[in-house]
Amino acid sequence: MTHANTRYKAVIFDLDGVITDTAHYHYLAWKRTADAVGAPFDEEFNEQLKGVDRMGSLALILARAPRSFSSEEKLALADAKNRHYQELIATMTPGDLLPGALEALVAVRAAGLKTGLASVSKNAFTVLDRLGIRDRFDTVVDAARIANSKPHPEIFLTAAAQLGLDPGDCLGVEDAVAGVASIKDAGMVAVGVGKPEVLTRADRVIPSMLEFRLEDY
Ligand code: BG6
Ligand code: MG
Repeated sequence: MTHANTRYKAVIFDLDGVITDTAHYHYLAWKRTADAVGAPFDEEFNEQLKGVDRMGSLALILARAPRSFSSEEKLALADAKNRHYQELIATMTPGDLLPGALEALVAVRAAGLKTGLASVSKNAFTVLDRLGIRDRFDTVVDAARIANSKPHPEIFLTAAAQLGLDPGDCLGVEDAVAGVASIKDAGMVAVGVGKPEVLTRADRVIPSMLEFRLEDY
């Protein structure tokens, strides 16, 4: 059964920055890393890190540092960032769902569509469990299931395949430039959550999940 007002069979959501505000925790943790290595770091530069995996994000930060770093130093910096991030998410509760996120998940299933999650985070299941929403997804694709981080389309293609659907039957929802590129290159329609001037490849941009309505697509 699909909803009379939509042609889609599934909606595949990003996690960090769409379902919950962990994008801010990633920002805080990377800010500490950047400060420690003397690399400039602000909200605008951080947009390039969103949706990018841990080592890829670190590489982007270190490219702006005044010296180069050995492989061991890079691993130590990534570990320290992750420990800080894990401290930040340790106290999360279902109250940390972004406004409109749970309602969107409920509405999608109520309309007879499947729900998917596509996150390149190795902490995705921890965050889902802290939010108490693991069972609200018909499939979850996290870092362990993919070889290529966003903006590569692999993660959204894998989510569609696990749902047994063609990419064209799926709508993707993302807050990151890299994530929107992943959705588009997977052949899906992209909903951006954020600013239209940032998420330029999205088919439609909404300011928050409160504005997500299936019948708009
Ligand atoms: C993405 C975030 O969801 O996960 C990125 O948008 C983050 O900011 C990436 O770097 C990897 O996360 P983790 O938890 O594996 O370090
Ligand atoms: Mg995100």
